[in-house]
Amino acid sequence: MQERPTSRTPTLELVRITEAGAIAAAHWMGHGDNTRADRAAVEAMRQAMDQVSFNGRIAIGEGERDKAPMLYIGEKVGRGDGPEVHIAVDPLEGTNLVAKGHSNAICVMAVSEPGGLLHAPDTYMEKLVCGRPARGKVDLDRPVAENLSIIADSLNRDVEDLAVIVLDRPRHEKLIADIRAAGARIKLIDDGDVIAAITAVIGGTNVHALMGIGAAPEGVISAAAVRCVGAEMLGRLKFRNDEERARAKQMGITDENKVYRAEDLASGQDLRFVATGVTDGELLRGVRFFNRGIRTHSIVLDHTMGKLRFIDSMHFDDPDDPPVVRL
Ligand code: FBP
Repeated sequence: MQERPTSRTPTLELVRITEAGAIAAAHWMGHGDNTRADRAAVEAMRQAMDQVSFNGRIAIGEGERDKAPMLYIGEKVGRGDGPEVHIAVDPLEGTNLVAKGHSNAICVMAVSEPGGLLHAPDTYMEKLVCGRPARGKVDLDRPVAENLSIIADSLNRDVEDLAVIVLDRPRHEKLIADIRAAGARIKLIDDGDVIAAITAVIGGTNVHALMGIGAAPEGVISAAAVRCVGAEMLGRLKFRNDEERARAKQMGITDENKVYRAEDLASGQDLRFVATGVTDGELLRGVRFFNRGIRTHSIVLDHTMGKLRFIDSMHFDDPDDPPVVRL
């Protein structure tokens, strides 16, 4: 365990930000309105950030300044009286999930000292995420069956007993066929490969890997979580068109085939990852509304302190008249 940096924003202050986003988004569950759900999370997080004692800058956010009114890349956030930090944020991972009332939507961010989070271009990324035992052994250029066999060996089990999460997309037709041919089981998800990545690297979830192509910015956020638990993540940018390629070049990406590891994507030393459930999921419960309070469930990973915490919070409407809290 490393020493706690002398000037550090308390972790609970960070959790308050994702809690605020999750509560705001959860009001929109099942309303069929992705935009409103996302906007609610963005506005609540942005407001909450300004109560926090840091001097923050958005490294990954809602997009470029001209496309996003809030939490745009480069935006200054925070009270401005604390340490300088860079933030990678996805205010609502799983906008469709919330709109439909489906599970596993989260409000999520990673925080690091400046320079500790790659400014990933807004494109796709091919990802392979698995637990610590297979670290350094898997390779994005190996056939799927070989990687699965390595992961199975590392966990001392048969490939048939593995469960792999894959985004349910037409682009994954071959990947899905390859995983099935290798004998492993698959969990197809509609959205949300950040929470899927965490599920793949935490023991006891009965999920052993995440494979396939998802968004690159989400890849950086996932990498922060993966690094905090010492697991493995490999990622390679996948451009949809020349415009994205050119944009990446402008951002300093010279080798478009580079395979990034978690430590390249989230290289910070003082790295923290925070997520709060919006709708119920396998790892996190969604926001629950009561008559005089709201309950939230969050996960916090702290690289510096070597800690993984689950935080179950009850937010009272009136601190002088709190509701009865049940376990
Ligand atoms: P949102 O944050 O926009 O809700 O993204 C959800 C998500 O499923 C990510 O988890 C994933 O990386 C990406 O979208 C996949 O993109 P696409 O839907 O274009 O396949």
